[in-house]
Amino acid sequence: MTTVAWHADALCAAVSRLGSESAFEVLARARQLEALGRHIVHMEIGEPDFDTPAHIKAAGIAAIENNQTHYAPSAGIADLRETIAEYAARFRGIAPYSRDSVVVSPGAKPAIWNTLSALLDPGDELIYADPAYPAYASAASYLGAKPIAVQLHEAKNWRLDLDELAAKITPRTKLVVLNSPHNPTGGVLTTDDLQTIADLSQRHGFLVLSDEIYSRNLYGQAFASISQRPGMQERTIVIDGFSKAYAMTGWRLGYVILPPTLARTVTLFANNTYSCVSPFVQEAGIAALTGPDHDVIAMNETFRTRRNALIAGLNAIPNVSCTMPEGAFYAFPNVSKITHDDKDLARFLLEEAGVATLGGSCFGAAGSGYLRLSYAASIADIELMLSRLREYLPKFPR
Ligand SMILES: Cc1ncc(COP(=O)(O)O)c(C=O)c1O
Repeated sequence: MTTVAWHADALCAAVSRLGSESAFEVLARARQLEALGRHIVHMEIGEPDFDTPAHIKAAGIAAIENNQTHYAPSAGIADLRETIAEYAARFRGIAPYSRDSVVVSPGAKPAIWNTLSALLDPGDELIYADPAYPAYASAASYLGAKPIAVQLHEAKNWRLDLDELAAKITPRTKLVVLNSPHNPTGGVLTTDDLQTIADLSQRHGFLVLSDEIYSRNLYGQAFASISQRPGMQERTIVIDGFSKAYAMTGWRLGYVILPPTLARTVTLFANNTYSCVSPFVQEAGIAALTGPDHDVIAMNETFRTRRNALIAGLNAIPNVSCTMPEGAFYAFPNVSKITHDDKDLARFLLEEAGVATLGGSCFGAAGSGYLRLSYAASIADIELMLSRLREYLPKFPR
């Protein structure tokens, strides 16, 4: 019998270019510490701590009872694709989408991976913001494309500097990735920002991949999508999903909306990888989009209260400052007066203070000297975390 040894040299070269989402690694370590009896305050993982709303759970359970437990079409069941197409156009106030534009995926993350796999040739350039959700640069690098970072600045409240963006555009620029509201900073692009990027897209011919997964998590202005700018609906690939708005992270349900010719190829990737999303999960998705919205609104109001408490508390800690996030549920405090080695500080806080956070540089070099805190945590936990920071930050060995 032949045995296969899983030696490192069996791995293909491209995997050395993969990034990773550190939140899952920190969560695993935090769980280990909890198993040893330590109390940990979780501020690392970006998932709403609320239960999935009852009517959504009921729809999923009913679909299981109705034996919707078999394979489904790779692009998603027709009813959900239709519902998403209708919702996405209505929510953004744009022209109707065809349901052939929608490809359903197990979470938004595989939609990003499969879309980039369908679009990027080796050598193509993808412009993205640094810091950023790691999935874009990871997939682009794996595919042999070039991720080109445009640095975000705290002084601009984490909006893109559009001159810097324009300076990075070349004839190889295939895609510009936007993510507003933004993970990890909570920054939000203005309508003027979006118009300038729309003009650049039309002048230079690149497409925009707009990751709008936090489109329901805003605390001031209404949501603005680049797809609303004149001429941009057909140039914008929208990524969205159910994880954040409906507290459905574990259900794994997301989607991409893009022109039907491209959607067919993204569907081919779905066919080659996960085959389809569980039909009962898709039924729950229909209930989420067609059911009452008050849970989404109530969750968001709770996030707003937590955000206000967290930011006030952080700014009262010596050597820490934090801008006011306008969307998503993340704070990105500046700890550079304490250290630039934010990952070491995050490790210290987890191991010594029992506070799980992420170093800002997990999201790119421009995150160095910052921490990312997810305020999908109760006010009691936020207060406890703040008191632990007050106690332990002065003890960080410099
Ligand atoms: C910006 C961004 N896009 C996509 C995702 C993926 O979400 P999902 O859980 O639906 O895969 C996340 C999750 O943290 C995110 O922050």
